[in-house]
Amino acid sequence: MDVAHELTEFLGQVEQRLTELLADGDVGPDVKGDTLMDAARHLCLGAGGKRARPMLVRLFGGVVGVPAARLVDVGVAAEMIHSASLLHDDVVDAGMFRRGRPTVNARWGNIVAVMSGDLILSTALSRLSLLDARLVQSGLAIVTEMTRAAIAEVEARGDMNLPLTRLRYIAEGKTGSLFGWCGKAAATLADQPEAQARFDAFGRHLGVAFQIADDIRDILGTDVGKPRYADVHSRTPSLPILLAVSRDESLRRKLKDAWAFSVITPERTREIGAAIEATGAVEASMEKMNVEIEAALDKLGPFANDAAGAELMSWAHRLSEGIAEQVKGRAA
Ligand code: IPE
Ligand code: IPE
Ligand code: MG
Ligand code: MG
Repeated sequence: MDVAHELTEFLGQVEQRLTELLADGDVGPDVKGDTLMDAARHLCLGAGGKRARPMLVRLFGGVVGVPAARLVDVGVAAEMIHSASLLHDDVVDAGMFRRGRPTVNARWGNIVAVMSGDLILSTALSRLSLLDARLVQSGLAIVTEMTRAAIAEVEARGDMNLPLTRLRYIAEGKTGSLFGWCGKAAATLADQPEAQARFDAFGRHLGVAFQIADDIRDILGTDVGKPRYADVHSRTPSLPILLAVSRDESLRRKLKDAWAFSVITPERTREIGAAIEATGAVEASMEKMNVEIEAALDKLGPFANDAAGAELMSWAHRLSEGIAEQVKGRAA
């Protein structure tokens, strides 16, 4: 079987395990249904998530020879940790639309979204504890990092002078830490310390690149499952926004005025979004994304050489090419 076919089969197993873990739980007597799991299923099942993290787990695991059956729970845990962070993120950002559906907070309210996130996080970690205590320990460390990054992003809101080093710290915490964990966890199961360090470093760079791609799609409007210019609207200083205001002083003033109001009108948001694109900040962001991808590939070292390693590399390249096509398509 080739790598692509194995991957499809693995993702099918992940889907099945995820469905099992998100079944109704014990809600005590005299109530019908499990609201928190209803909400979790709404986000996690059949909603078109890309499943990037389970896929990474399988690819990393392939490089160090961990049997796929041992990786299913790791992939599922990674997807659930990610999903919990999205449930919380949409509360924090007041996000109303995700994966082409109303968010859980839009449909059930913030309280259900927060608690549903907590529930799937604890479900993921307890599943990991059945597998290997080391995975729980490293899993908890990245949940801490993701939480720190999430609040750092909130604290950075509206700050057009946010240093790029701080922005990178936030992106690595939000997204890179979990990508790194996907590799580190697989290498832990293989008892390969060098792979643990290299995969973690690879994943962190790749995660930062992935976050930049997400920031770019926000400006281009190429993620059909989420509203365009959400970062402008929520006053989140993404990479293209920061690069744009550093290139265009009048845009900086316009955005400062817009961000001074608590609600920005859709027209104003669109106008500013178009002005951001006009500065060339999207292309400049893409360059930074490619630097991160190259740094990631460099970290793989000798592990890049076999078929699974090559697949990891080509996944990283496809991320870059996909964004380049979207940028070109927009210009055409
Ligand atoms: C969205 O993650 C948030 C970021 C980390 C950029 P994904 O782009 O992996 O979202 P889904 O899982 O495919 O919806
Ligand atoms: C991803 O960041 C959130 C986490 C990794 C917790 P974003 O805030 O950019 O995600 P979207 O754009 O809402 O999907
Ligand atoms: Mg968000
Ligand atoms: Mg985003």
